[in-house]
Amino acid sequence: MALRIGIVGCGRITGNHARALQNIPGVEIVGCADADLDRARVFAQQHGIMHAVSSVEELFALGLDACTVCTPHPVHEQIVLAAADAGIHVLCEKPIAVDVAAADRMIDAADRAGITFGVLFQRRFWPAAQRIRAAIDDGRLGAPVLGEVSVLLHRPSSYYSADAWRGRWDTDGGGVLMTQAVHQIDMLAWFMGDPVRVFGTIGTRFHGDHIETEDTASAVVTFASGGTATITATTGVDHNLGNRVTVIGRTGAVASVHEFPEGREGINEIWTVPGELELDSPLDPRIDANLDVGDVNAGLIDFHTLQVQDFADAVRTGRNPAVTGRDARTSLAVIEAIYRSARTGGPVDLEPAPTLQER
Ligand SMILES: NC(=O)c1ccc[n+]([C@@H]2O[C@H](COP(=O)([O-])OP(=O)(O)OC[C@H]3O[C@@H](n4cnc5c(N)ncnc54)[C@H](O)[C@@H]3O)[C@@H](O)[C@H]2O)c1
Repeated sequence: MALRIGIVGCGRITGNHARALQNIPGVEIVGCADADLDRARVFAQQHGIMHAVSSVEELFALGLDACTVCTPHPVHEQIVLAAADAGIHVLCEKPIAVDVAAADRMIDAADRAGITFGVLFQRRFWPAAQRIRAAIDDGRLGAPVLGEVSVLLHRPSSYYSADAWRGRWDTDGGGVLMTQAVHQIDMLAWFMGDPVRVFGTIGTRFHGDHIETEDTASAVVTFASGGTATITATTGVDHNLGNRVTVIGRTGAVASVHEFPEGREGINEIWTVPGELELDSPLDPRIDANLDVGDVNAGLIDFHTLQVQDFADAVRTGRNPAVTGRDARTSLAVIEAIYRSARTGGPVDLEPAPTLQER
């Protein structure tokens, strides 16, 4: 029997979900929903989807096994809670939510309903990222003791003005950390383990005349292992230099994954595992790197497909998906702590995720 899947939110990223779902055998897209019904109808027509509706209630009434969530971040919680309530498995776009308390309610609801709950962090599926994870596990890199996240992106003011929800604390929940760097913070924590302490600062230095959330951030993160990492993030650079995550393992080997231009598969720019020396920068001034966000998203379709495929398999077999709600909570907890640290001026200790018994 085909898995019957619905899509909630028919905006910019949703094309990746439709293309991914249509690439996977044994999956049927039953319908799509958007609060703006015209948008849902246009999307359904573009992708050959039978039903277009304006609410999750109507979508769920079509009889679904699972849904994917592509609404703005602050709306993720209500859709995931509704899915859990209806016993529908759910794969939600990143960030899981805009505050950790909401993420905990979502994880709790999914646990109690016994549904599969995954969160989209498709960059983990890049071969270059998987190679680092494997070199940590097999000891060639060893446990990372130092890490570095660098997110040096270009966003024109039109990016923020095109969608009214962007760049406002109440409707976006944050800026460059919440929307862009969350991917690299997720990857950093996937490599380095549980973060325990954060010290950070944020600013609005480039886009202040049209957004209120941060467009620059700097932070230091300490992990339970004793390892530390820095985060530098902005959407204000004139020429987009992409995203890089670097880790230095206990063996002294350095490995990095560099995404340039943005949205293209990251490569191992630095790889100094003994006997395997590779230095291979993707930076090239001849490349037009200030891409439109639609082009950035389009470059990620193959990796959305891999993660959606993993999710469908997790639903069928009952195993955990590659990125669970609990995994996705970690990057949000770091970001929330950077915001708090920026407000208080001091370091912030992170609370471990509550277990089911504690809730
Ligand atoms: N994984 C990635 O690489 C990636 C890339 C881009 C966006 N995203 C994530 O996807 C989400 C959506 O981003 P986007 O750029 O597509 O936004 P968007 O503004 O283009 O689309 C959001 C859509 O959700 C609809 N919507 C809002 N509230 C709704 C509700 N209650 N019910 C149904 N529909 C509702 C809006 O009408 C809109 O059509 C965000 O959380 C973003 O972080 C992820």
